[in-house]
Amino acid sequence: MIDTTFWDRIARKYAKSTIANIPAYEQTLDHVRRHLRATDTVLEVGCGTGSTALLLAPSVARYKGTDFSSEMIAIAREKLADTPLDGLTFDVSAATLDTTADQSQDVVLALNLYHLVPDIAAALNAAHRSLRPGGLLISKSPCLAGKWYLRPIIKIMQLVGKAPYLRYLSIKDYDAAIKAAGFDIVETALYSPKTPNRFVVARKR
Ligand SMILES: C[S@@+](CC[C@H](N)C(=O)[O-])C[C@H]1O[C@@H](n2cnc3c(N)ncnc32)[C@H](O)[C@@H]1O
Repeated sequence: MIDTTFWDRIARKYAKSTIANIPAYEQTLDHVRRHLRATDTVLEVGCGTGSTALLLAPSVARYKGTDFSSEMIAIAREKLADTPLDGLTFDVSAATLDTTADQSQDVVLALNLYHLVPDIAAALNAAHRSLRPGGLLISKSPCLAGKWYLRPIIKIMQLVGKAPYLRYLSIKDYDAAIKAAGFDIVETALYSPKTPNRFVVARKR
């Protein structure tokens, strides 16, 4: 049984938090936009409170933001009610995308998600299954394998419910997991030198 407690609890606080590195975020959005076409159907996984979805949805025909936290999705829907946008919807869904039809998406987007998912292979396989042949998985994930000093701090925070599950990915393992799920990596980038947030554009084989 998937546990959404941590994310449900912090959703309202998360919605109020500010973006740590705005230039890196804007560069990330620009990079994603370069791969979007006006006719595309896009699925965002782990969309949080929908901020990115609201910015990217005008570039495509249909955009669905999903998150396993119903609290995050409730906030995303409130934002959408304040700023209605044609073609944008939000739904509760885990990264395993159990209700997403096979080969129904042109692009799957996952920002700051896969390092938080215990079964990363299942999540990447789900993204692959839901994409049409040649469709794109665009993801950005902190690769924290080298940040050994964080481990004891995070462990204590997890024990007291102040941090979620966290995978200490290396860039090598992350890329390997994407390829093993059936993708060819076509572009990579790093937009925040202080945090190794690996940005990857991968095409479904
Ligand atoms: C760090 S936040 C990132 C939110 C947003 N993508 C962003 O970049 O601001 C991680 C999000 O992933 C969601 N999440 C974590 N594990 C998930 C899973 N297994 N399936 C779907 N969503 C998940 C959380 O609820 C949270 O909203």
